[in-house]
Amino acid sequence: MIRIAHISDTHITGESAYKGYAYDLIVNDVNRGDFDFVIHTGDVTNQGLREEYERASYELGKIKKPLVVIPGNHDVRNVGYKLFEKFIGPLNGVYEFRDGVVIWVDSTIPDLSDGRVGGHKFRWLKARLEEYSEKKFKIVAAHHHLVPLPDTGRERNVLYNAGDVLDLLLRHEVSLYTCGHKHVPNVYRIEDMVVDNAGCTSCRKTRKGDVNSYNIVTIHDDGRIEVTIKRVTGDKVRKEHRPIKPKIFVPRGERLLRIVQMSESNVSERMYFRRKVLENAIRTINEKLRPDIVIHNGDIVDMGIERYYEKAYEFYEKIKAEKLVVPGHNDITYLGYDLFLEYFGEPEIVEMKGFTFLPVISAQYETPIGVVGRIGQRKIAKHLEEYRENFTVVVLHHNIVPIPRSREVGFLEDAGDVLRTLTRGEANLVLTGHGGNSFAVKVEKTPIVNAGSISWELHRNPFGNSFNLIDVYPGMIVVFEVQATWGSGRLLGIWKVKGPFTP
Ligand SMILES: [Fe+2]
Ligand SMILES: [Fe+2]
Repeated sequence: MIRIAHISDTHITGESAYKGYAYDLIVNDVNRGDFDFVIHTGDVTNQGLREEYERASYELGKIKKPLVVIPGNHDVRNVGYKLFEKFIGPLNGVYEFRDGVVIWVDSTIPDLSDGRVGGHKFRWLKARLEEYSEKKFKIVAAHHHLVPLPDTGRERNVLYNAGDVLDLLLRHEVSLYTCGHKHVPNVYRIEDMVVDNAGCTSCRKTRKGDVNSYNIVTIHDDGRIEVTIKRVTGDKVRKEHRPIKPKIFVPRGERLLRIVQMSESNVSERMYFRRKVLENAIRTINEKLRPDIVIHNGDIVDMGIERYYEKAYEFYEKIKAEKLVVPGHNDITYLGYDLFLEYFGEPEIVEMKGFTFLPVISAQYETPIGVVGRIGQRKIAKHLEEYRENFTVVVLHHNIVPIPRSREVGFLEDAGDVLRTLTRGEANLVLTGHGGNSFAVKVEKTPIVNAGSISWELHRNPFGNSFNLIDVYPGMIVVFEVQATWGSGRLLGIWKVKGPFTP
């Protein structure tokens, strides 16, 4: 068993932003506890100033355990990264412990609050993950969060390349990602990895009137990972993750439903629209795949003009299965908002064979940034509650988890709160379609599947234009990505699911 104290965002300064008593309280707790080591995930200081670093090195000296410290965006202000190396230690590094390793990486960008694990650092991280691939427990630590966090207001400052980093960590079977930054304690499991966000240890700036806290991570020899958020009030919230074992998937029983998911057709007269590819795909869907329902996750036209809507309608009329189309931001440009309703109608709840599909509108005028809104979130929560007995599928345009190969700038304004609504309500499946690349991960109990672009040449998918084929069996979901030109497939995700229809 390994026990880690995870502190973060101490924001040490001479000014009133810093709460020295909270720091001392937590450090005493940490020193008394049976911890093997301590991880500090950054924002050690408030402004990266010399006087702050001097005080910080004294304050950190109070911690009587091995200590790993990661730089945060506040630490690198005023070229503080030079002082970090001088007063605290290396910006990137490796700490080995019995059975495991902590690889920490500097995710800061001087003078910005945003994060990035840029080209060199990304390769360095990848090389370290390969070097330590034999270790049973791989921990990656950085300052910035990886998936949207609830209760942070507008979603921002996630790593620009969060999708790539998330993909990298999952491919290398990282067991734990620790971070801080938003001053909100939170624990998610993504596939078999625990994402452990610390709140803030000693900064006045907490959110929603919260108090200072730190996280206690326990890694058991059998692979279980336990995270307890411990607040200075003594309040504790504990979460445990058991790794999925054995990782063998055999469908039990007949297939319950087949869904085809597509996005970003961007029907238009522009050269980037690949008409033949779309025709081909529709033929394959009608003749070979024969799904129960086809979901289009938005950007059905490239611009919201009548001529394009006419063409798009012609294409989708040909699809024989039941259809559900939600608008993307391209669809509602110009007169698109009205045209979408005219040609495709107000998206409505679809119920079939014990499944319910809930369309959610996230597109806004004249911006690729989407929003669900607090009323929209309440609607989702209510729907998930009402249809608890059904298999619930939520459908929207904007991606909620970051997508590889895209620059993540918070494409859904309130992604953090939306993600919490979906995972708390235990949505059985979430379908999104922004970013021009396919990606699928399970967050908590909810698989989230993003579709790439089916017929738009400007995409980010090395597999090419594609759509997803989702088969639901009792207790299991399989997602294949189908190459839109060749019809070849590859596995995008496979999950055992609890809930409705579990044998
Ligand atoms: Fe901070
Ligand atoms: Fe920060």
